[in-house]
Amino acid sequence: MKLLHNCALAWIIGLLAAPLSFAQDPHSFSNPQQVLVRHLDLSLTADFKQRQLIGSATLDIERQVDDVEELVLDTRGLQVGLVETSDGQGWVPASFRLGEPDPVLGRALHIALPAVSRQVRINYASSPESTGLQWLEGRQTAGGRHPYLYSQAQAIHARSFIPLQDSPQVRVTFNATIFTPPALRAVMSAGNDPQAPRNGVYQFNMPQPIPSYLIALAVGDLDFKAMGERTGVYAEAAVLQAAAAEFEDTEAMLEQVEVMYGAYRWDRYDLLILPPSFPWGGMENPRLSFITPTVIAGDKSLVGLIAHELAHSWSGNTVTNATWQDTWLNEGFTTYLTYRILEAVYGRERADMERLLGYQSLLGDLADLPLPDQRLVPDLIGRDPDAGFTEIPYEKGALLVTELEQAVGREAFDAFLRQYFDQFAFRSLRTEEFVEFLEATLVARFPDKVTLGRLGEWLHEPGLPANVAVPTSPSFALVDEVRAQWLAGQLTVAQLDTSDWTVHQWLHFLNGMPARLSPAQMRALDARFQLTQSSNNEVAHSWLLLAIRNDYAPAWDRLRSYLVQVGRRKLIVPLYKAMLETDAGRARATGIFAAARPGYQAVAVSTVDNLFRAE
Ligand code: BES
Ligand code: ZN
Repeated sequence: MKLLHNCALAWIIGLLAAPLSFAQDPHSFSNPQQVLVRHLDLSLTADFKQRQLIGSATLDIERQVDDVEELVLDTRGLQVGLVETSDGQGWVPASFRLGEPDPVLGRALHIALPAVSRQVRINYASSPESTGLQWLEGRQTAGGRHPYLYSQAQAIHARSFIPLQDSPQVRVTFNATIFTPPALRAVMSAGNDPQAPRNGVYQFNMPQPIPSYLIALAVGDLDFKAMGERTGVYAEAAVLQAAAAEFEDTEAMLEQVEVMYGAYRWDRYDLLILPPSFPWGGMENPRLSFITPTVIAGDKSLVGLIAHELAHSWSGNTVTNATWQDTWLNEGFTTYLTYRILEAVYGRERADMERLLGYQSLLGDLADLPLPDQRLVPDLIGRDPDAGFTEIPYEKGALLVTELEQAVGREAFDAFLRQYFDQFAFRSLRTEEFVEFLEATLVARFPDKVTLGRLGEWLHEPGLPANVAVPTSPSFALVDEVRAQWLAGQLTVAQLDTSDWTVHQWLHFLNGMPARLSPAQMRALDARFQLTQSSNNEVAHSWLLLAIRNDYAPAWDRLRSYLVQVGRRKLIVPLYKAMLETDAGRARATGIFAAARPGYQAVAVSTVDNLFRAE
């Protein structure tokens, strides 16, 4: 019954799943305008010895024009074996060729298509260096015994473990059979069964069509704990209880978004806790967000991350950016939704502090980034789309969305968002298409309040437009006052009353310090507040940044262990960058990176490599 239901659902959604129109995706070789992949069937063995996924991908294809002679897929570092096509009756070998490797895009795989073919099967193996996979040894995991594999497909890394049309305009449903060592459990961005016996074979079905960057797999010594009716956590036993306690509000968050923006369309919402090398804070893989363990702080202070990944179930996974130049449609709306969720679950004060922290990081990026990269819709042609992930699509995007909300009022704006998610559900959207939608809705209804001129400025000009409403927070104003008094010598550290400060206030306190503090000031702060030993990874990050800038030697051991332990880009990159500003720092950074590098995921390795090269 459930299966029948899923099939019917898949069929109905499948009809709607095409994008509005295909744009040329500058980050894909594929030709969906001519022949479109609709469904994917994976059969893969996770070979931990060889560090390879080995097996086959079977693609159901649909011709968009009559005279198509080839299917072009994206690959990177794949070893391609036998390729076959089928007309639905039987399989025949197909001729294929791999194009020249491109450093950003990988290699096109051209497969000749007989006129009657409806399916293509590619036998292949991923490379041990696959940029989308990380193979960890037991000692790099929380349990210390069993190996762990996880994938990270966004932006264009799916092609490094599956040959497919790797463009967010193309959505597929999928089935998968994953073979693992018998002690381990496999989970995917699909229906997961926590009761599935650990027997080395796992079956998955994803009935809703999703873009390739949301296809995800992890294999490890994973247990499950329910948090609510529709929410739960997969994690290694050593972190399972702590994670379930930290993220226990996930169900309430889910309920709140449904109240604001309509029903959750993806059945369950579970979390997977990754090892600390996971290069991102979180990744919104449908039904199963991938989450860094660095946000398990013990006090729910960093659960904004969960709100963010959950919000992507609407903005991102239901309505998707068509190309990586339209990322702000995913991340800007999601950042706005994140603050709305925090406000609904924890109140206005918490939300405003996080809004202001976000705005401050945006100012940091605006000070650093070249002008063209400050546009909401950047030019990423010929560039690695991972480079577009600055605070611009996130926080500048959220400021634009907030401005629209404030122009028309919350009630009208929430209704607009609901309509947006309904109208474009399971579709991929370009910025121009969003602008047309806005024109037909809010601009038509509120012509004095929402104008295309202002919108164009937001989308295509660097910096921020004039008169942007800046977030404010009384809790931060208080911190500013205390910090100023301490810096002016009017208060000693002993007189700083921080007893009821939140983690966000601490972050604001540290981030707002002047470029230089004296050794005595650094020592005094550390002695009173044990900042070098802070167990909150964000606070530790802000403190270590100050330590580097002020040459505060007592923090060096912690700096090293932090950078060897944590592989999350956002936490490590600013620390390396700061070290590279001085000769002594460069020597320290070189030593630490040599020790840390083997534990980092490919994307983090290449980001840090580039920093060393750039200086
Ligand atoms: N989708 C992103 C992560 C991502 C971005 C992966 C670009 C690959 C390429 C995810 O939703 C995200 O934005 N994560 C942030 C969370 C933060 C803004 C709360 C992160 O990882 O820091
Ligand atoms: Zn995001």
